[in-house]
Amino acid sequence: MTIYESVKSELRTAPKIWAVTGAAGFIGSHLVEALLKLDQTVVGLDNFATGIQRNLDEVQASVTMDQWARFRFSRGDIRDLNNCRTVTSNADYVLHQAALGSVPRSLEDPIASNAANVTGFLNMLVAARDAKSTRFVFAASSSTYGDHPALPKVEENIGRPLSPYAVTKLVNELYAEVFGRCYGLETIGLRYFNVFGPRQDPNGPYAAVIPRWVFAMINNRPLHIYGDGETSRDFCYVANAVQGNILAATARISDPRGQILNIAVGHRTTLNALFRILRDRLVPTFPHLKEFSPVYRDFRPGDVKHSQASIEKAKNAIGYQPTHAVARGLEESLEWYVRNLVATEEQPE
Ligand SMILES: NC(=O)c1ccc[n+]([C@@H]2O[C@H](COP(=O)([O-])OP(=O)(O)OC[C@H]3O[C@@H](n4cnc5c(N)ncnc54)[C@H](O)[C@@H]3O)[C@@H](O)[C@H]2O)c1
Repeated sequence: MTIYESVKSELRTAPKIWAVTGAAGFIGSHLVEALLKLDQTVVGLDNFATGIQRNLDEVQASVTMDQWARFRFSRGDIRDLNNCRTVTSNADYVLHQAALGSVPRSLEDPIASNAANVTGFLNMLVAARDAKSTRFVFAASSSTYGDHPALPKVEENIGRPLSPYAVTKLVNELYAEVFGRCYGLETIGLRYFNVFGPRQDPNGPYAAVIPRWVFAMINNRPLHIYGDGETSRDFCYVANAVQGNILAATARISDPRGQILNIAVGHRTTLNALFRILRDRLVPTFPHLKEFSPVYRDFRPGDVKHSQASIEKAKNAIGYQPTHAVARGLEESLEWYVRNLVATEEQPE
């Protein structure tokens, strides 16, 4: 039995109360689903800035009525401390996911990113501290590696941030560490690397690459690659991120204050290779893709050229073992994408 399996079995036997912010978002809704399936009590918070009710509806459809009855949801904004107190009160573990993602969004509107990602984050820390939560696990980001050239990325070696978004995620780590040192709050930040999977939003200018591309491919719309396509990323299926959160919340580790762990697979895939994988898998259903090619555009400011994680620290600290390499993750995602990414009038390019 893996460490993750034994943790899940312990949780089933002795259920806990979990606070999940960003519950109506992509990763947050997968956390809610996984926890409910383990018969946990879950309190969710989201202001629907980028999350949607349909994500929660899908979770409801995937769990039993008894499990769904253990979920409470508040619509609210983490920029208001009262909302943070509501979601953390009584919570054993806090999984803080709510934030405005996307480097380009933060370049367009750094004030909005700062308000949600820094002020909102600080509110959540204060609320978790005051509620005496056992542990505060939060969504950090690989963007914190900034301009540090080394590969693979090791937690201790970070460069200078390349975008306002990266600044907000770095500030999260600094605040979490200080809350450990000053108030004894246990915090673990998970530096996610390009998480993908069902329910990831394909829409709008800030959409992540995989759902955006699948949408473009199956609807025969232009697909843009920024740069020469040799940019690479450590694409991480969402089930691995869920595992990282559950282990980080529950692991017995020697000093769980101000810890930072990479959550990824530990491999990198170039955008050109990703394009070929997706096209090969989609061609049998969408024969027009045999002739389909990407359109190359200028490299975007704020984007890093290569990203690949070392996951040794997460393996050693919490027993993290990713179950899904990129191919298996895509396998599990494509059916959902094909079912859900059919074009409507107001879809993006
Ligand atoms: N998806 C990735 O590849 C990735 C990579 C690195 C880090 N992250 C981080 O992981 C977390 C989850 O990202 P995601 O991909 O699920 O994005 P998402 O946009 O689907 O989820 C974020 C959720 O937070 C909610 N939210 C935003 N501002 C809020 C506010 N002020 N109050 C309450 N709720 C608010 C949104 O409505 C949304 O439901 C974020 O913190 C993001 O920065 C994601």
